[in-house]
Amino acid sequence: MTTSELKNMLTDRLSRPMRDLRISVTDRCNFRCDYCMPKEVYGEAYEFTPKAQLLTYEEIWRLTRLFVRNGVTKVRITGGEPLVRNDLASLVALLSEIEGIDDLTLTTNGYLLAAQASSLRQAGLKRITVSLDSLDDEVFGRMNGRGFGVARVMEGIDAAASVGLRPIKINCVVRKGVNDHTVLDLARRFKGTGHIVRFIEFMDVGNLNGWKMDEVVPAAEIVARIGAEFPLEPVQPNYPGEVAGRYRYLDGSGEVGVISSVTQPFCSACTRSRLSPQGQLFTCLFGTEGRDLRAPLRGGATDDELESIIAATWRSRTDRYSDIRSSLTEPIGHKIEMYQIGG
Ligand code: GTP
Ligand code: 5AD
Ligand code: SF4
Ligand code: SF4
Repeated sequence: MTTSELKNMLTDRLSRPMRDLRISVTDRCNFRCDYCMPKEVYGEAYEFTPKAQLLTYEEIWRLTRLFVRNGVTKVRITGGEPLVRNDLASLVALLSEIEGIDDLTLTTNGYLLAAQASSLRQAGLKRITVSLDSLDDEVFGRMNGRGFGVARVMEGIDAAASVGLRPIKINCVVRKGVNDHTVLDLARRFKGTGHIVRFIEFMDVGNLNGWKMDEVVPAAEIVARIGAEFPLEPVQPNYPGEVAGRYRYLDGSGEVGVISSVTQPFCSACTRSRLSPQGQLFTCLFGTEGRDLRAPLRGGATDDELESIIAATWRSRTDRYSDIRSSLTEPIGHKIEMYQIGG
């Protein structure tokens, strides 16, 4: 076995390999979604991370190479909103040069996408995921906290499709009584376009979104509602541990997905590592503490030293929050916020 094959054997305490790296490039966002960054908390005066504390693109590139050497093949750029960070395409260009990354993608709210789609594509981005919670302007405006309409996000989606950032995935967080009555419209709108809508169960990420189980619409119910109008059948996952359950329209007009992290958790196959904008490594979306990589990075650590911190952190990982959520009798502590870790 070669050294790199040996490294690819890196597994955590529950025998899960490290395959994905989700990089949050900023904690800032131009939206104020009520389930992530409620505007009452994150008003105009809120202070996000100062620039000097953010990893630079070169630092992100250096760390990403080390994650790839330890088994990561899939990299997703997230935020906050990644497109608010200056010249994001230059980070994409750096990452797309790294050998061993099979899938390089990005999750965005789409608001700045029309202007950047072409430069992101040219820099080497392969595909894109756009969040869009409703096609109803009033519902969407309320959910994004800023009154922003749907049209501009749709322009972003169209621009991404026209430059070949495909397949496009559309993420919709479903909250009972807020936007669940618009689920079918969203499915109908993208049916036959080649874009894949994924409906996400509202999760208890972070500490501020007022999560209640009775606001979760179970994924099975969403599938049943869509299936009643447009018959569906389940499809095998694209890869082991895929987050979304896939369903295809029986008339051949494409597929939809559901992400059931509340009602049917998928921790046993979770291969995701997460890097915060300040360079902390988290091994769970519901993590309470990250492992700081920025201090050793800026303190002159060698690649080998950084790699051994990453590997040791992964090896000691036992996270399975979604699996144990329902049996928890008290909160696990102060969780990282969604906008600090990017989902
Ligand atoms: P694909 O690569 O296209 O399959 O994307 P993805 O589903 O891995 O990523 P995306 O950023 O689109 O995430 C979709 C939703 O799933 C978001 O709400 C994420 O927060 C959620 N999600 C992604 N990974 C995890 C995870 O490890 N645990 C939990 N609980 N939710 C996750
Ligand atoms: N529950 C489920 N999904 C969420 N997202 C943000 N907050 C939540 C939450 N509380 C979604 C975003 C984006 C993805 C990365 O995570 O809408 O599509
Ligand atoms: Fe911004 Fe995404 Fe959070 Fe909405 S969910 S506030 S778009 S980071
Ligand atoms: Fe992975 Fe944590 Fe999500 Fe479970 S809850 S799937 S361990 S990120």
